[in-house]
Amino acid sequence: MKIWISGAGYGSGRVVDAREARLPALDHGITVGDGVFETVKAVGGQAFALTRHLQRLARSARGLGLGELDLDHLRDGVHQALAANPDTDPGRVRITVTAGLGPLGSERTGGELTAMVAVGPFAQPAPTTDVVVVPWTRNENGALSGLKTTSYAENVRALAYARQRGAGEAIFANTVGNLCEGTGSNIFVVLDGRLVTPPLSAGPLAGITRELVLEWVGGAEEDIPMAALSRVSEAFLTSTGRDVQPIRAIDDRVLPAAPGPVTAEAMKVFAERSAAEIDP
Ligand SMILES: Cc1ncc(COP(=O)(O)O)c(C=O)c1O
Repeated sequence: MKIWISGAGYGSGRVVDAREARLPALDHGITVGDGVFETVKAVGGQAFALTRHLQRLARSARGLGLGELDLDHLRDGVHQALAANPDTDPGRVRITVTAGLGPLGSERTGGELTAMVAVGPFAQPAPTTDVVVVPWTRNENGALSGLKTTSYAENVRALAYARQRGAGEAIFANTVGNLCEGTGSNIFVVLDGRLVTPPLSAGPLAGITRELVLEWVGGAEEDIPMAALSRVSEAFLTSTGRDVQPIRAIDDRVLPAAPGPVTAEAMKVFAERSAAEIDP
């Protein structure tokens, strides 16, 4: 695998073999998770919805206090990384930007940012997935709420909890007991015949797939009390890797259908529209 890297001694950007790429041990992204990232899908060497992903990366960087990113530079990095990995299709394009060299503590010294673009394989998502609700909450009032930062260990912990229980994704409530999101996905449910997803004020990441489903398929953004999960007739996850993935069971409750009619329609519309437009 080849990787594009800039900063960290690589100047304005170079493609190198991933096994040879080196970061300074005191990069603040490593010592304290001071960084932001994106995962983008590439098909036939072209990155899907790249403009939306770069804009979200910029929002995350701003929210974390990393300043304004040079998105043209990063877009060029994505193109170089894809060109250097032509056999990886579909590709999982991982863009990471960290604060660069920093002290051992939380204070940031404001040096040159480190940026990387790696391209790995994207596994085919399973036709359905089971999810479990984890005992920990998302903090919708936290400083990092809604930002895609490299401080992701909470998601690592929650996903391991779900996997130990045979599920494919872990679901978080927020601090007031409403549905929030998965470790790497957003969630939609069908309640009383209506398609609903938690609003951004409930604390989820503004998923690009979620955004496109709302635009292309519809659905309401409303707070969903966790207790309402016992009544949902259908549910699905959305993410760059899963697209629209039906949920078969939530904890021990197997849903009436996976996919049910609303989910099947969302899958169909998303597949058609995303195939027709590479950068919607
Ligand atoms: C916490 C979280 N929520 C939701 C998503 C889904 O976002 P997207 O559709 O942009 O992949 C992700 C993506 O990885 C995520 O990390």
